[in-house]
Amino acid sequence: MDLGPRDDRGPLSFREVGLLAVSTERAYVPAMPKQREPVSFLVFSASLRAGSFNTMLAKLAGGAIEKHGGTVDLAAMSDFDSPSYSQDAQAQGVPSGATELRRRLDGNDAFVIAAPEYNGSMPGLLKNAIDWVSRLRPQPFNGKHAFLLSASPSMVGGNRGLWALRVPLEHLGSRVYPDMFSLAQAHQAFDTQGKLVNAQLADRLDQTIAGFMDLAEAAKHYPCAKTAWIEFLGEQPNSPIDRVDRPAQPQ
Ligand code: FNR
Repeated sequence: MDLGPRDDRGPLSFREVGLLAVSTERAYVPAMPKQREPVSFLVFSASLRAGSFNTMLAKLAGGAIEKHGGTVDLAAMSDFDSPSYSQDAQAQGVPSGATELRRRLDGNDAFVIAAPEYNGSMPGLLKNAIDWVSRLRPQPFNGKHAFLLSASPSMVGGNRGLWALRVPLEHLGSRVYPDMFSLAQAHQAFDTQGKLVNAQLADRLDQTIAGFMDLAEAAKHYPCAKTAWIEFLGEQPNSPIDRVDRPAQPQ
């Protein structure tokens, strides 16, 4: 393999190429707050329960987003709760909960959901809200970056519910961040200030959110990165395979 001229010593050997790869390997860099282009996040918990662990986790996520230079619109699921969807009900009009969720999605660049796991899936009220909003045009989930979290007293932290939640969101064109955060044994995980007791877990949450924010910021402010993301998913934005509407424009 010839990597081209290199002063008077000729091309690099295989061993030298290997050493070069090792020496340029990225060092571990802790997520530090940094200057960002403006990017806003709708953050909500999909639990209506007073004292909800997912609401506590959503608040923590919101705090981390602000620390890393984002704007947070913290919402409550009670704002979005809607009667059971049916096409007959839709013919009577769209309920205020669904209208509000659409308004808040449209008003932010990306969204974050902390969702409980019910019977290995997402809570019915969350799926119901998604179904209502999916009927509105432009379809508000399309093209929006999303980050998913869960909290549960169980040992796996409600992670299966997030895999279920991915399905309708990705179906609707949301770019769901590959990494997710599930908090196990949530009933013992928070201190009296609402912070995570385990420092390693707290750091992991912080790092994951910073990575998600980088992507949401790039999608908004650096369109070449957005194109690369779309192509990676095999969804080149050309008319024959455009299956959904254009992303909603902020009002
Ligand atoms: C649960 N819970 C639960 N937990 C889990 O880890 N996996 C599961 O499949 C279920 N299933 C389930 C079904 C129903 C109907 C209820 C009411 C609860 C426990 C659940 O994670 C726990 O109650 C959480 O505390 C709920 O989240 P919030 O309200 O604390 O945010």
